[in-house]
Amino acid sequence: MSFTVNALSPAGAAEIVGLDCAKPLDADTLAALQRAMLDYPVVAIRDQNLTPRQQAAFSRQLGPLEAQDRKTYCHPEDPDILILSNEIRPDGSAVGIVDAGDFWHSDSSHLAEPCRATVLYAVQNPKTGGDTEFCNMYQVYDALPDDLRRRIEGRDGIHHISKARNPRVTISKARTDAAAYYKERERTTRDMRQPMVRTHPETGRQALYVSPRFTIGIADMPDAEAQPLLDALFGIMLEPRFHYRHKWRDGDLVIWDNRCLNHQACGGYSLPDIRRMHRTTIRGDKPFYRPAA
Ligand SMILES: [Fe+2]
Repeated sequence: MSFTVNALSPAGAAEIVGLDCAKPLDADTLAALQRAMLDYPVVAIRDQNLTPRQQAAFSRQLGPLEAQDRKTYCHPEDPDILILSNEIRPDGSAVGIVDAGDFWHSDSSHLAEPCRATVLYAVQNPKTGGDTEFCNMYQVYDALPDDLRRRIEGRDGIHHISKARNPRVTISKARTDAAAYYKERERTTRDMRQPMVRTHPETGRQALYVSPRFTIGIADMPDAEAQPLLDALFGIMLEPRFHYRHKWRDGDLVIWDNRCLNHQACGGYSLPDIRRMHRTTIRGDKPFYRPAA
């Protein structure tokens, strides 16, 4: 199977046309896809038609999948599929995670081994809104002034899942179960140290590895110094030149590399307009920083 890769943005996004992810990929096609994913940290594979089982089977070809920790929102056909949706059942319960990913972040950076890549399939796009925005953290790192680079080199950020501990974020009012969930996680989850500069294990490039959503401090640095430093880094991240905004088409299957990107869901839709996505996540390894030779 051969496919075409068309660049979509200088911030490292491309579309892939002519690939059918419902069928097993041969070795050459899989290698070409993995190559494209390193060249472009965001790839949008167009025109897919995937059942939950087919999406999970496709994703497993990229690597072992993470077990989903929000069992309530796993798809009944395949527990490796997490449902992100604003749909509400007649009894008032949510079908999937509502307003998932509504602040800049890299997926599961609060874990010791954050997920390598996320695979998101548009099952139903809203008529308005629902975009996903990506920030190329290789490019952000490359653009950092020397003094900022020196101040973060070799340092660890402190990451935590609880939004209740992070004054830079808020909990969506649409997520009725979120306050209790974060309170529980605050009690049961320890702070996670992650290198502020992450060396990509496959490309060898350096990327800034912090996020407004999960990074709440800097190890061995008082907050009076750490918070303004984080604000300075986040201020650079917010510059549009590093961003690609994906406007979802029906049938899009988007894969992104969490080792060198931040992303956020842009919202902008509400019921009865429905946005439903199916997510799988590829298991990753422990982030590290290797100074340039
Ligand atoms: Fe996310």
